[in-house]
Amino acid sequence: MPTMIWSQEMSVGVAILDEDHKKLIAMINELHEAMQHGRSKEVFADILGRLSAYTVEHFGREEDFLAETGYPSLDLHHRVHEKLKADVAAIRRKFDEGVDAALQIDTLQFLQDWLQNHILQTDKRYVAHLNAHDIR
Ligand SMILES: [Fe+2]
Ligand SMILES: [Fe+2]
Repeated sequence: MPTMIWSQEMSVGVAILDEDHKKLIAMINELHEAMQHGRSKEVFADILGRLSAYTVEHFGREEDFLAETGYPSLDLHHRVHEKLKADVAAIRRKFDEGVDAALQIDTLQFLQDWLQNHILQTDKRYVAHLNAHDIR
């Protein structure tokens, strides 16, 4: 499984949100590295906890921009964020019960795919809207 790399095609045209996405990618890569080095479940759970907290913070920041500019698809975007929060909470509960290699790989794959697809498909849709409201 390759590590994730932020690329210009992932840019959402708003500097602070691009920075958030880069931080989230860095945390997913931290998880990847912990897995490769066979780190303890505590280390894994700790990274997952930080990733989860930062995700909530990022979603809030993104939704605030969308709300203050009257983004028409805010509702849908919000629901997609909420679904991910619930999924991550479920994953963290599983990790509390015990960590095995399959769960680590599944989690990593899920997070990588989710973030990549979300940025490229869902986040990318607000670029023109926010830029038109002078948010960049
Ligand atoms: Fe988003
Ligand atoms: Fe985002």
